[in-house]
Amino acid sequence: MPITRRDLFMAAASMGTALATPPGLHQARAQGAYDDWGAVRELFPLSPDKVHMSAMLITSHPASVRDAIERHRGGLDADPVGYLETNGDKLTEASRNAAADYLGMHPAHVALTDSTTMGIGLMYTSLGLGEGDEVLTTEEDYYVTHTALDHLSQRTGATIRRIALFEDARGASREGIVDRIRTEIRPETRLLALTWVHSNTGLKLPVAEVAGVVREANADRDEDRQILFGLDAVHGFGVETENFFELGVDFYAAGCHKWLFGPRGTGIAAISERGMTLARPTIPTFDDSTVFSAWYRREAPPAGNNGLRMTPGGFKPFEHRWALPEAFGLHDAIGRARISARTHDLATMLKEALTSVQGVRVHTPTGPDMSSGIVAFDVDGRSSDEVVALLRDRSIIASVAPYPSALVRLAPSIRNTESEVERAASAVREFA
Ligand SMILES: Cc1ncc(COP(=O)(O)O)c(C=O)c1O
Repeated sequence: MPITRRDLFMAAASMGTALATPPGLHQARAQGAYDDWGAVRELFPLSPDKVHMSAMLITSHPASVRDAIERHRGGLDADPVGYLETNGDKLTEASRNAAADYLGMHPAHVALTDSTTMGIGLMYTSLGLGEGDEVLTTEEDYYVTHTALDHLSQRTGATIRRIALFEDARGASREGIVDRIRTEIRPETRLLALTWVHSNTGLKLPVAEVAGVVREANADRDEDRQILFGLDAVHGFGVETENFFELGVDFYAAGCHKWLFGPRGTGIAAISERGMTLARPTIPTFDDSTVFSAWYRREAPPAGNNGLRMTPGGFKPFEHRWALPEAFGLHDAIGRARISARTHDLATMLKEALTSVQGVRVHTPTGPDMSSGIVAFDVDGRSSDEVVALLRDRSIIASVAPYPSALVRLAPSIRNTESEVERAASAVREFA
């Protein structure tokens, strides 16, 4: 069997080669193409009669993603096997490379998934932990992290401990959160599982500082007792500018169908070199040909783990996966820093407008250092379901957080305009 570029990645990954080098796929920003936010809005076929503040749920496909999906769908529909055999490997590799480039890491450390949920489940549920090991997580984390950790505990006997990071998101401080985690780490702690931007309150964690605490705690620990740091990154991915290494985490999961505006049903899971030693594949891969060819020869696969092995195999709606480069390409073309600043500006504007409405309590911290694109609030005397229904009556798309505290969320993004932010705040003013 010929040795492919992918096999070389695999060999490098198994040998523990330094894998932090980005493969250099950076795309130059198209000069001026998206300088006007109105032109960005035009890329999305969103119905103009509604204010879509729903980027935190599921995206509408921008033009380039839609075109790529249609191109691959046409190819697959005309000749499913021929198109897959001729193009499949290189298209999947291009998707993984685009994700890796965006994250600033080597593609061999990136698994392609269907969603954040799949990534978290794949990474946490099969971790090589056991009795006597503890996972530290928080009350503020989402159902997906809590449930994947429950599965891990049932499988391995590792215990899960949940702590509250703060009493009230509005009064929380970066230092307070970092100190709380520092004091709660115990000798038996082996995994810290957090969420970058909480989807109930919109609070953004100081992830890099927390990673510093983990590093301090690991400094005098043996290799096999190190603490690893896992992150549900979905509401920072596509909005915040830090890459995988700047955050300093070991496990990073995000869906590409929210703030990245990528194909629906796509996601990524990124794993550090150290994380790879503790993670175990769950679903047989179709991406790492060394595993398949070893099976073919009735031999054990080469030792080690990598992002290709962590990628669930089986045939997929490939036209979506293969449109990922266009989603990352659009972010590069608009400019990551510009997207971040614009999202923060609109969220700040919305928070200020809502705060001025009597009877409305904004729960998301004010500053961009502790918040991102999600704006969470409640209204005196009205349930969140009622508020969302009243907003829908006024053609504003908001959502209720699926948490016990069930706040109302509006999620402005680069698809929105200042006047839409004003419209959303005015709608709330009508019934608050
Ligand atoms: C924090 C968090 N994680 C995961 C998810 C699920 O994301 P996905 O649809 O990519 O699985 C959500 C909400 O949709 C969320 O708020």
